[in-house]
Amino acid sequence: MSAKLIDGKAIASDLHSQLTEEVKVLVADGIRPGLAVVLVGDNPASMSYVTAKERACDKIGIYSRDLRLPGDTSQEKLLELIEELNIDPQINGILVQLPLPDGFDEETVINAISPDKDVDGFHPVSIGRLVLNLDGFIPCTPHGVIKMLEASGAKIEGSDIVIVGRSRIVGAPLANLLFRKAPGGNATVTVCHTRTKNMAEKVRQADIVIAATGRPNTVTADMVKKGATVIDVGVNRIEDASKKRGYRLVGDVDFDAVKEVAGAISPVPGGVGPLTISMLLWNTVASARMAGTKNS
Ligand code: GUN
Repeated sequence: MSAKLIDGKAIASDLHSQLTEEVKVLVADGIRPGLAVVLVGDNPASMSYVTAKERACDKIGIYSRDLRLPGDTSQEKLLELIEELNIDPQINGILVQLPLPDGFDEETVINAISPDKDVDGFHPVSIGRLVLNLDGFIPCTPHGVIKMLEASGAKIEGSDIVIVGRSRIVGAPLANLLFRKAPGGNATVTVCHTRTKNMAEKVRQADIVIAATGRPNTVTADMVKKGATVIDVGVNRIEDASKKRGYRLVGDVDFDAVKEVAGAISPVPGGVGPLTISMLLWNTVASARMAGTKNS
């Protein structure tokens, strides 16, 4: 039997309708949310992500400022730009697209962004607040995964969840969100990584499997319990001469085989990706609301 498909595009579209209404209310109050998107260099995947983020802002009425810098920009210049954006009243969120070209220290760059405008949720203040279960910006992809699970009807609370991958952007914050005592949390979470023993055995116990390794076919059908919900965070470019652009996108899950075992599964593309953008817009709107409240 084939699994139910979790349609990220449809879930994102519902969230965008809701956010469009919220932006209208803010604009009527004289507050237009503003996002600065900074891209250094010409990494093709980063360029297409950044374009998608700016398009989504335009669609829901968020002001977006497109700041593209050449790959040989100095770190000092980038830090100066971030300082300007930190104090710019038109800007409520600052996103510096990662990875930065060689020679940049991402830690220093992320730390330079004001925690009040950290809509990516990557600043140590945001991560600290998340771990302490305090309100703050939640990283967009982990937040999108939770929205996706909720929209699919999967029960998070009390479930056994296995996350494969412990990255700072996805696996580590997602584990904290899923086990914390809060809505969208209260699960029992296992994080598997490159040093995990008997990974297949652990994944087979899971009611919900989340794959976020950046490696195709990390999760195969023999590793998935019948009826489990499977969320695929991976976006991998695979060479494919039959495609006009020369590649196709696949996730970290062996989709065709796993869909025969799982109860529900998210596709790539059209799964978590659109939700990552939705949660960026969500954080930008929340930031504008907070700035408006502070100023009034
Ligand atoms: N690179 C890949 N994903 C992300 C993201 O969510 N935010 C930023 N800033 N860079 C990324």
